[in-house]
Amino acid sequence: MSAGLVTVAYIGASILFILALGGLSHPETARRGNLYGIAGMGIALLATLFGVVTANYGLLIGGLVVGGAIGLALARRVQMTQMPELVAILHSLVGLAAMLVGFANFMDPNVQYSGVEATIHDVEVYLGILIGAVTFSGSVVAFGKLSGRISGKPLVLPARHWLNLLLLLASIWYGIEFVEQSAAGAGLVPLIVMSVVALLFGVHMVMAIGGADMPVVISMLNSYSGWAAAATGFMLSNDLLIVTGALVGSSGAILSYIMCRAMNRRFLAVIAGGFGTSTGAGAPEGTDGEVDPIEAPEAAQLLTLAKEVMIVPGYGMAVAQAQHAVFELTKQLKERGVNVRFGIHPVAGRMPGHMNVLLAEANVPYDIVFEMDEINDDFPDIDVSIVIGANDIVNPSAQEEPDSPIAGMPVLEVWNGKTTFVLKRSMATGYAGVQNPLFFKDNTRMLFGDARDSLGEVLRNL
Ligand code: TAP
Repeated sequence: MSAGLVTVAYIGASILFILALGGLSHPETARRGNLYGIAGMGIALLATLFGVVTANYGLLIGGLVVGGAIGLALARRVQMTQMPELVAILHSLVGLAAMLVGFANFMDPNVQYSGVEATIHDVEVYLGILIGAVTFSGSVVAFGKLSGRISGKPLVLPARHWLNLLLLLASIWYGIEFVEQSAAGAGLVPLIVMSVVALLFGVHMVMAIGGADMPVVISMLNSYSGWAAAATGFMLSNDLLIVTGALVGSSGAILSYIMCRAMNRRFLAVIAGGFGTSTGAGAPEGTDGEVDPIEAPEAAQLLTLAKEVMIVPGYGMAVAQAQHAVFELTKQLKERGVNVRFGIHPVAGRMPGHMNVLLAEANVPYDIVFEMDEINDDFPDIDVSIVIGANDIVNPSAQEEPDSPIAGMPVLEVWNGKTTFVLKRSMATGYAGVQNPLFFKDNTRMLFGDARDSLGEVLRNL
């Protein structure tokens, strides 16, 4: 394949990636966006295979078949609730690839630069390995935390900010050493030491994140994986990798910013760790009373009297796979003339857009699904709010307890409505590990059980 054709293919792939991002910004166009992304990646792969990489096809095709088979098997097996873990481990692979390509490129005797070009190339190698290492180890820890293999509690080492600063300065110092030694034909030792320092930094950074701040870390690692790919693109002089990496890096950065705003956090403060580290002064106020359980027949009866219903889904809806039952309930209530709406918290579930994806899968119309900011003032007019497997995102102690691990996080104010049903299996806490005073309020009724079973019972009694 000629160089000109490769360039055309790369431009086409870049355009398709941009269209993919545009499509993914709305549920109605997300499928189309995905198709654009698949087509772009297909073109990019073919152009790279036939136009850029010219030697050792046996190894290349062997790697593609083995890697593709593992990816296919994992993607087919993964449950919807495990998607965030899968995303985290995929980010770690991008980081690992950037590290390995960096070392291979540095040690490759065929890669020869001189003068300023050599220094620039060394800096590219350094940055690719640095960002790759932080992404790799940070994403592995994030995977451990999301899958429950590592405690979700933040690791708060004494003088942790000093430790971060020390690791940062050490990686800069070894970077300078590497560039200087590389000019004299050496440099592998400082590069290895710098990689170890960066790996430690990634581990410490994510271990220090606690409570409800994981969403910001996940989107931040997503962004890092993009910058690692872009740095690799510079290293290999591959324009498409630079463009694609920059697209992933900047969209991840924008997502991190949106997440921070949603959580009412400052980005730098989250990265430095320490948020979500407070354990509060014991249980939040208002959690020492008794809860008021309700059975499905009574819940159904109250729903038949309601005119305004707000459904607030959370992680438990994903666990119970209750979205189709939610759709059926919505349909039946709407047929009875009830105005049913959905209130979606930006960090509900375990990944950005988690609830929107599930509701779209169940064909819930988009025009009745609202962002938190759009409907939070409407709760005083709501007759019944149905909280389905949500906990942290409807916890009033975020507003009332300055010591709470979720203090300052905006929440859906369901308690301002007339009656709230909470569907969950027990009194267990949610992701942030804090008890919820909502469950003890006079206008809250607890419908205990698996959310899908409970909704099925309500539907039978409607
Ligand atoms: P959580 O606070 O985690 O609460 C989920 C609740 O669902 C649990 O209290 C659980 O109670 C209940 N549940 C689990 N399985 C259920 C089932 N089969 N049927 C009924 N209920 C079930 O979820 P949330 O309110 O959606 O809040 C999200 C949390 O995750 C936030 O703290 C957020 O920061 C964090 N987080 C979010 C993300 C993103 S990007 N969205 C990423 C990482 C972390 P029972 O066990 O009693 O049933």
